Amino acid sequence: MTLWQARLSQGPARELLDFSQSLSFDQKLARFDVLASKAHLIGLVKGSIITPQEGELVSSALDKADEELQQGTFRFQDTDEDIHTAIERRVTELAGPAGAKIHTARSRNDQVVTALRLYTRHELLEVAALIIELQEALAQKAVDSQDHYMPGYTHLQRAQPVLVAHYFLAHAWALARDIDRIIDSVSRTDVSTLGAGALAGTSLNIDPQFVADQLGFSRVFSNSLDAVSDRDFVIEALFIIATLGVHLSRIGEELVLWSSQEFGFVSLADAYSTGSSMMPHKKNPDVAELVRGKAGRFIGNLTGFMATCKGLPLAYNRDLQEDKEPVFDSIEQVKLALRALTPTIASMTLNYEALQLGADSPFLAATDLAEWLVSKGMPFRQAHEVVARCVSEALSTGSDLKQVVEANEELGPEAARLVTPGVAIERRSSPGAGGPEAVRVQATSFANRLEEDCGRLNRLASRFSKILGGF
Ligand code: ARG
Repeated sequence: MTLWQARLSQGPARELLDFSQSLSFDQKLARFDVLASKAHLIGLVKGSIITPQEGELVSSALDKADEELQQGTFRFQDTDEDIHTAIERRVTELAGPAGAKIHTARSRNDQVVTALRLYTRHELLEVAALIIELQEALAQKAVDSQDHYMPGYTHLQRAQPVLVAHYFLAHAWALARDIDRIIDSVSRTDVSTLGAGALAGTSLNIDPQFVADQLGFSRVFSNSLDAVSDRDFVIEALFIIATLGVHLSRIGEELVLWSSQEFGFVSLADAYSTGSSMMPHKKNPDVAELVRGKAGRFIGNLTGFMATCKGLPLAYNRDLQEDKEPVFDSIEQVKLALRALTPTIASMTLNYEALQLGADSPFLAATDLAEWLVSKGMPFRQAHEVVARCVSEALSTGSDLKQVVEANEELGPEAARLVTPGVAIERRSSPGAGGPEAVRVQATSFANRLEEDCGRLNRLASRFSKILGGF
């Protein structure tokens, strides 16, 4: 029996059940549904809608159903449309007439979205914890690389030397923005929607704020129509993961390039490399490639679900059931990606010689030569021209740039010293720049930022876990 069978003269067709069920994918919400149902129950007792004895009975039935679900002994039925229906059916089996009161002053519309909010709030914080681990691995690589330097690129052409640490920290700072976005979005996800009913609230004596407090929500909905139809928090979670996925894909792409024989900048640990089924000599960076590839899927989940929401009239529409698979998928996949990428980075070996060799090309000092002329009073545009001519001459005649600079009347021997390997890197000293002095300052502020973020996340997590117990 479905929950709504009494209204219809015929049982649901097989095709309808197959098409509309969400039980095959929404069991992830089970524990959150149980928690929300318990809070709802306490509210029903408080409003004298059910007796404390009935409340006790139903609460134990919910615990039993929860235990069965966790142990895998819960028996689903053909007509269980979703996890919420299944739990309610089981509770009614266990608690009898009292169980049949659990759905008083509640609709699946407010029930489903409350469980999904609890799930999303919880999972985003798990993702944040994994991002922190990746940032720690990147920061450790930065520390390990000391004052080693490498070529920085624009257009993937060697541009100017930067510390290897600067490179690792660049990715770590991008991830810090993902943490910011998570914390910001959690504040909007952290809203209780229980009490909105199907769309218009209820005539019964409920106290949504009291129920929200039971679940550790910091706020309660203001408009019942909005409460049951709002999926902004899902879109935000999908966007956060898509953006994080883009950041990870850029790291992935660089690991692919850097581990190629053409670059030879890093060697991945064997445990985080794969072989080829045909070519015995191959060692492939599959983790990095998959991390790069998943970004497409995350973007697809975001755009797909936004398209689902577009043009939906108020309030709940069954289309909204399409919120679950993309958000479950993005969360699960990004967690897998982070869990694989962090140890891949932590265990890889850098070839500092190869990195430095690329940066010691005399041409990477060209900007410094132009800036040297500026320090002597020449307008930058003119300085750029003087140096560009030297570069062009060195390239066309096959001569050493240093000698060309030495012979140049504007530049000369003092400027030529800048072309010496290791000199240009020391000169990148402006705030936030890639030279050793500036990177030391940056590394300290990054360490502080990481500590602050850990504090912010721990405070949020402990506030929620106090309420949610064993989660
Ligand atoms: N499984 C459904 C969902 O996720 C439950 C809500 C069904 N509500 C309804 N009015 N049919 O959206």
